[in-house]
This record gives sequence, structure tokens and C-alpha cells, in this order.
Amino acid sequence: MGLVEMDLKQLRLNPMTLIGRDWWLVTAGRAESFNTMTASWGHLGAIWSRPGEGSMPTAVIYVRPQRYTKEFLDREPRFSLSVLGEEHRAALNHLGSHSGRDGDKVSEAGLTPVAAEGTVYFAEAKLVLICRTLYRAPLLESGFLDRDIIARNYPERDYHVQYVGEIVRVLKREEE
Ligand SMILES: Cc1cc2nc3c(=O)[nH]c(=O)nc-3n(C[C@H](O)[C@H](O)[C@H](O)COP(=O)(O)O)c2cc1C
Repeated sequence: MGLVEMDLKQLRLNPMTLIGRDWWLVTAGRAESFNTMTASWGHLGAIWSRPGEGSMPTAVIYVRPQRYTKEFLDREPRFSLSVLGEEHRAALNHLGSHSGRDGDKVSEAGLTPVAAEGTVYFAEAKLVLICRTLYRAPLLESGFLDRDIIARNYPERDYHVQYVGEIVRVLKREEE
């Protein structure tokens, strides 16, 4: 069963469990050169607008400066978010604990990259969000009102970079 385009308005999901528990793969690049990483921090929602249209459907991701994937995110106009089923948990763990700088972790994880839509996603995904990067900025130390978050999450002061992407296409696995 392949991935087919679906109308974003028909999408039914719980962003809290999808991102925080199921996780997704953040991927950017082209067929010849791309990288991916597991992420469990992010948001789905709406912000900004075009004349005559409602607010834009958006996905927000948070990427530490040291991730290899960040180089691709910064270079490319688009990125993808691939949601995989529980049967791929080992692959998600692998891609979240190895860097693409050190080897071909996608092959090691046994996933099949698909280069399309100006980015790369994975054939094994059950849901793919294709995003166009609208905004990029690092989190500011001065913005943390709960200072405990800094102590707990940023002992090295390596604040995440936030990327806001407009969701331009949704691909969903066909029902079997
Ligand atoms: C469950 C899980 C969630 C993660 N979430 C994030 C995240 O939201 N942001 C981030 O920068 N790194 C996150 N990571 C860490 C990266 O996936 C990990 O450092 C990865 O090896 C980076 O690969 P790269 O250097 O090839 O980009 C997560 C890792 C795991 C296992």
C-alpha cells in the first residue's frame, strides 16, 4: 500500500501523542544528499495568513545546533515529517542515537528514502507532512520564565533552533 495525498482538513490526529509518544522523523535534502533524525518535540497548529485565506497550517520543530540534520534544514527550502508505526520503533531509536555524519544510518535502520516534493521522506511512513520553512530562530535564554528548564535541558546552553514550516502537502498510507 502506498502513500496518497490527502486533504489536510480531513486529517484527524492527536498532536500530543503523535509527536511526544509516537515521534516523527525530520528529514531534509535531496536524493543524492539528505539527512534525517528522530524528534519528539514539536507542535502542530496555525499561524500567519495570506490575503483572503485563513491562517496557515504549520508544524514547528526544535533542533539542537549540533545535529547534522540542521545543516540540511538550513540549506533547503523544505523539510518532511514522517510518522512511522510502532513496528519501526527500533529504526526510530537508531536514527535518534546515531548521526548521519558518521555513516549511512538510514540503510542501517532499514528504511527506504523517497525523494519527492522537494525533499525526502520514507516509504514506510503512515503519515508524511511536507513543510516549507517559513521561519527559523534559536530559542533565547532571556525568554525562559521557568529558569529550571535551562538547568534541566540546557546545561551546555545549546538552545534549540525553532523552525516553523507551512504544511504544503499531506501524504497518508492507503487503508489496507
Ligand atoms: C525519542 C527521541 C527524540 C528526539 N527529539 C529530538 C528533538 O526534538 N530535537 C533534536 O534536536 N534532537 C532530538 N533527538 C536527538 C536526535 O535525533 C539525535 O541527536 C540524532 O542522532 C541526530 O542525528 P543527526 O546528527 O544525523 O542529525 C531525539 C532523539 C530521540 C531518540
